[in-house]
Amino acid sequence: MFIPFITAKNPRFLVALAAAPVFGLAFVSMTMGASTRRPSQPIAFFHRVHAGERNIPCAYCHRTAETASFAGMPPTRLCMSCHRAVIPEAPEIWKLRSYWELGEPIPWERVSILPGHVYFSHRAHAGAAKVGCSRCHGKVEAMDEVEQTVPLTMGWCVQCHRETRASTECISCHR
Ligand code: HEC
Ligand code: HEC
Ligand code: HEC
Ligand code: HEC
Ligand code: HEC
Repeated sequence: MFIPFITAKNPRFLVALAAAPVFGLAFVSMTMGASTRRPSQPIAFFHRVHAGERNIPCAYCHRTAETASFAGMPPTRLCMSCHRAVIPEAPEIWKLRSYWELGEPIPWERVSILPGHVYFSHRAHAGAAKVGCSRCHGKVEAMDEVEQTVPLTMGWCVQCHRETRASTECISCHR
């Protein structure tokens, strides 16, 4: 019988029962850690505030996301075009200004990275095929720090290619 064990006479069982979900969660987050990364960025820049609350379009900052292989990162001067006036005395904006004054690019940590032997192009997906950013990056406009939400494995790419009748030939992705 299962139920009769859950009594005050059997405190060890209660402790184990209470701990089980915690271990379960720890296990899930450990295994997720293998495919999802969440780096810490040099400036606490929040997509939720910019792309979410303020509705700044993705392409305003990632200018070549529909026209080139790489989506592209916003130049520091684009940030400064707003932040010379917007919250200029916030500590995170002091950091931004010092990169700008030194003429150094902000060393953002990359989040989604494919191995060098794989060919990928944003133009083919977000441009020509009109695949939405969220299909591959999740709801970035709701995130503070960007997290990778898909596995980015070959199986994941090929599964969508089968569904959308895109090429599954080795040579398309390994050139
Ligand atoms: C079909 C999946 C897919 C779609 C759709 C997609 N991306 Fe990506 N994105 C990727 C992959 C894969 C990488 C990693 C590429 C690499 O490491 O070469 C990436 C990398 C990036 C990067 C960092 C590197 C770079 O290219 O500058 C940015 C920024 C980015 N994506 C933004 C966007 C935006 C904005 C959109 C929508 C307009 C979008 N992506 C649509 C899969 C996608
Ligand atoms: C189109 C205008 C605009 C651009 C471009 C812009 N920001 Fe912002 N940013 C804002 C606004 C508006 C806020 C919210 C200010 C407030 O809280 O009152 C903000 C807030 C912030 C904050 C405070 C934390 C947060 O996210 O709420 C940081 C840090 C920041 N921005 C950094 C950046 C960086 C880095 C860039 C360039 C990659 C950038 N911003 C580009 C308008 C902009
Ligand atoms: C105000 C400028 C700004 C806007 C608007 C913006 N981004 Fe970004 N994005 C950045 C900056 C700066 C980074 C690098 C720091 C980080 O990862 O948060 C970045 C990083 C990313 C990355 C991680 C790239 C990598 O390293 O793999 C993705 C994915 C991304 N953005 C997607 C989007 C999408 C999708 C939208 C629209 C919903 C969007 N961004 C809107 C400035 C912006
Ligand atoms: C959400 C669905 C989807 C995902 C996920 C996806 N693709 Fe695609 N891919 C497409 C579609 C649709 C096309 C366009 C097919 C066409 O034009 O006939 C395409 C085209 C391509 C092409 C051909 C581009 C060219 O030169 O014309 C390559 C290469 C490619 N994808 C690589 C990848 C890789 C690598 C990944 C995983 C990192 C990936 N794709 C993930 C849907 C997807
Ligand atoms: C739609 C894109 C796509 C197609 C088509 C594709 N691959 Fe891949 N392949 C990937 C991606 C993305 C990776 C890297 C991620 C990973 O290892 O899962 C990869 C990784 C690999 C690796 C390295 C695995 C490792 O453990 O390092 C080999 C080998 C490989 N592919 C062979 C093939 C062969 C053979 C074919 C044709 C039958 C093929 N691929 C077709 C996207 C693709």
